[in-house]
Amino acid sequence: MSAVLSSCSATHLIAGKISNDGVMISKTDFIFNQKGTPAYRSFIIVRNDTLQYPIYVYRFSDQEYSALWMRCTHQGTELQASGDSLQCPAHGSAFNNKGIATNGPADSSLRSFPIKISNSEIFIDLRKQS
Ligand code: FES
Repeated sequence: MSAVLSSCSATHLIAGKISNDGVMISKTDFIFNQKGTPAYRSFIIVRNDTLQYPIYVYRFSDQEYSALWMRCTHQGTELQASGDSLQCPAHGSAFNNKGIATNGPADSSLRSFPIKISNSEIFIDLRKQS
């Protein structure tokens, strides 16, 4: 049984490891030290020079994540993440942690990438969208 707790913390940016097909991150990227106790971030953001927009990776559980392209589906502004949701600074659209639009003017979901999970790593497949 794990003593790791769920918690919010400041936004955590990582570069990940880029390959031809996608980007690899580690499950440990979600762990931070909270007053001496390991805890999980609810999300992290993957940002590096090869990505036109960052990717928001939300952790639902050890085996369930979402990976969302942080590009507003209204007019393409880069989104801002806070906790369980993403907001657009341009005209106020909002999206939940599965990429579904919860506030307009955007009316379509964010691009979402397939994820493959191994014991310790999470591979985000950038070749296709789900
Ligand atoms: S570009 Fe995001 S709401 Fe208009």
